[in-house]
Amino acid sequence: MPASASRPRPRVIVTRRLPHAVETRMAELFDVELNLTDTPFTAQQLAQAARDCDVLVPTVTDHVDAAVFAAAAEGGRLKLCANFGVGVDHIDMHAARAAKVAITNTPGVLTDDTADMVMALILSVPRRLAEGEKLVRAGEWQGWSPTGMLGHRITGKRLGIIGMGRIGRAVATRARAFGLTVHYHNRHRLPPEVEGELEATFWADLDAMLARVDFISINCPHTPETHHLIDARRFGLMQRNAYVINAARGEILDENALCEALAAGRIAGAGLDVFEREPFIDPRLLDLPGVVLLPHMGSATFEGRQAMGEKVIANIRVWVDGHRPPDIVLDGWA
Ligand code: DGY
Repeated sequence: MPASASRPRPRVIVTRRLPHAVETRMAELFDVELNLTDTPFTAQQLAQAARDCDVLVPTVTDHVDAAVFAAAAEGGRLKLCANFGVGVDHIDMHAARAAKVAITNTPGVLTDDTADMVMALILSVPRRLAEGEKLVRAGEWQGWSPTGMLGHRITGKRLGIIGMGRIGRAVATRARAFGLTVHYHNRHRLPPEVEGELEATFWADLDAMLARVDFISINCPHTPETHHLIDARRFGLMQRNAYVINAARGEILDENALCEALAAGRIAGAGLDVFEREPFIDPRLLDLPGVVLLPHMGSATFEGRQAMGEKVIANIRVWVDGHRPPDIVLDGWA
């Protein structure tokens, strides 16, 4: 960890455009290199950046893999990877640990925005919002009809949340206001007072929960343990009227199995804000009914992105001052 006071400003490389005020503040505080074109870095550019800076600020669009950390070790400078985003599954933690690079993220400030987006998908898919909007825009709407655009009711249905961290709990709070009953699967059971407040039922057995609920919302992080957590076998356990909502990470769902389950009518629909190979979208998803697709925009609010930038700056500043950054995910000097 660096000592503070007379040290030169740290060399910081940011891989994507950030909100203007965040970039301006970074330029005041750091010797910063911004990406004014916003073109995602190639693997070579990322490796070069890791060689040339003290602090790298990547986003979910960067694969910060072993080659990047090998380049960092060659350069001998990189000590902190201050991720702009909460998910860190695009960063190779083993390689970071070996290279003694600390990792920070931006938790807490995108919880409500992401939970709102989950709720929007829970409403959009069964109530056919995207289809209705398309119909109106295409000039094909013939007026109200008793049997037109029928969808399925939300109130009284069961929601199964996978991953009851900050975002999962914020989804639960919203869902209760819409009359859904809340069920959840998590590595650890919540304390009784939190469970009581959310009126949430814990399922230790994910398979058993999947077979019982009408909506499944994925809100856990993507880790080796949750990769393809929802696979063909688990789609087979779900009810035919079930909807799957994913605003976490695409890789938690086996997208091929999802397409097959939807095409075969094994489940009723899906609301997806994230995909397995972003920005590539499996063309089958574009043609399937009962599917709402969004471009990874769960945290996309002006307020949220500004707050994420402020967290990145705070993490870097605290590190520069020789202290443990508040949002440490991996301690590079442990
Ligand atoms: C997050 O913060 O993880 C968002 O998905 C964007 O990276």
